[in-house]
Amino acid sequence: MTVTEPSTSRAAEILSRPVTINGLTVPNRIVMAPMTRSFSPGGVPGEDVRSYYARRAAAGVGLIVTEGTYVGHESAGQSDSIPRFHGEEQLAGWARVAEDVHAAGGTIVPQLWHIGMVRKQGDPPVADAPAVGPSGIRLDGTEGAGRAMTRADLDAVIGAFAEAAAAAERIGFDGVELHGAHGYLLDQFLWAGTNRRTDGYGGDPVARTKFTAELVAAVRAAVSSEFPVIFRYSQWKAENYDARLAETPQELEAILTPLAEAGVDAFHASTRRYWVPEFDGSDLNLAGWTRKLTGRPAITVGSVGLDGDFVRAFMGEGAPVQGIDNLLDRLERDEFDLVAVGRALLQDPQWAAKVLSGRFTDLQPYDAAAVRNLS
Ligand SMILES: Cc1cc2nc3c(=O)[nH]c(=O)nc-3n(C[C@H](O)[C@H](O)[C@H](O)COP(=O)(O)O)c2cc1C
Repeated sequence: MTVTEPSTSRAAEILSRPVTINGLTVPNRIVMAPMTRSFSPGGVPGEDVRSYYARRAAAGVGLIVTEGTYVGHESAGQSDSIPRFHGEEQLAGWARVAEDVHAAGGTIVPQLWHIGMVRKQGDPPVADAPAVGPSGIRLDGTEGAGRAMTRADLDAVIGAFAEAAAAAERIGFDGVELHGAHGYLLDQFLWAGTNRRTDGYGGDPVARTKFTAELVAAVRAAVSSEFPVIFRYSQWKAENYDARLAETPQELEAILTPLAEAGVDAFHASTRRYWVPEFDGSDLNLAGWTRKLTGRPAITVGSVGLDGDFVRAFMGEGAPVQGIDNLLDRLERDEFDLVAVGRALLQDPQWAAKVLSGRFTDLQPYDAAAVRNLS
């Protein structure tokens, strides 16, 4: 595919505008998408993780959303190399990450995560912590590998997210992002495929949103009123790319409105290709619909700067570089406010600097080997 290059001044002019999310001013429109890296033994982000994020901030990324980091609940996640957002040593590591990103001129929020019923094949169960989810159902519809959450579980998980958000503010982060996407715990509540509850937390889209709205309200209450709370969600699930939370804008509105009312300041609408219209009859993508329906700032994502599908790329296929003219057009029309970049930034820490200074021919195609190191 030929790279059509926007003029340097157009890309720089549009992407360099600051934007406000509640009390936070993000210096430009470029966001680093959250990407699990598994380089934090014992859940503690170390020196290498600090410089990995600081390098991207120094090169012009306006807002970094960290990789998903487990909240302090026994069933939040199983991996020992994925960072955690609880515990003294873990939070001390994170405080230094935030400090370095700020020193480099960027802003940063942790992505707070609970995996719910998701288990990779072969993952050992954590002792005394079975997989939990709204109905004990896995994304593929099977039962038996976990259990439905009790009222006590719901309260404990809400408490864990609220504590992590309070910790984020205390140790110097600029806000939080709640991971409600890709089939993990919060998405398991939102999606009818994994939520069969009959206690008021399942049923129609509003009932399926009840748990997450309560969680957002608890997070909101645990932090200052100007501290940004971002909510990431998706239609697709990690094991089911055709799944949809909402078939119509009305259904989407039924889910997003209670979340906005509970205190979400901005939404991060995760799609695999940002240029794909979400519903028939309109060119708007998912972030565009989100902004239109909620009035909140929206972050778009999905193959920005790349011509390819991130799932295939993650499985080992590369992705060539693609122009960003269509993206700039949409930003200029205020379809959405910020643009998250995943693989292109994994591949090239200098991606933002190159785009902002018009060095488009220096952009690198994505090579899946980038996942294996923390450069
Ligand atoms: C290696 C890798 C790890 C990821 N980990 C996360 C994660 O922890 N949380 C999350 O919400 N999304 C995660 N994603 C999805 C990205 O945030 C992003 O939405 C996706 O890569 C599409 O953007 P891109 O096409 O610019 O790469 C991950 C993606 C990749 C490639």
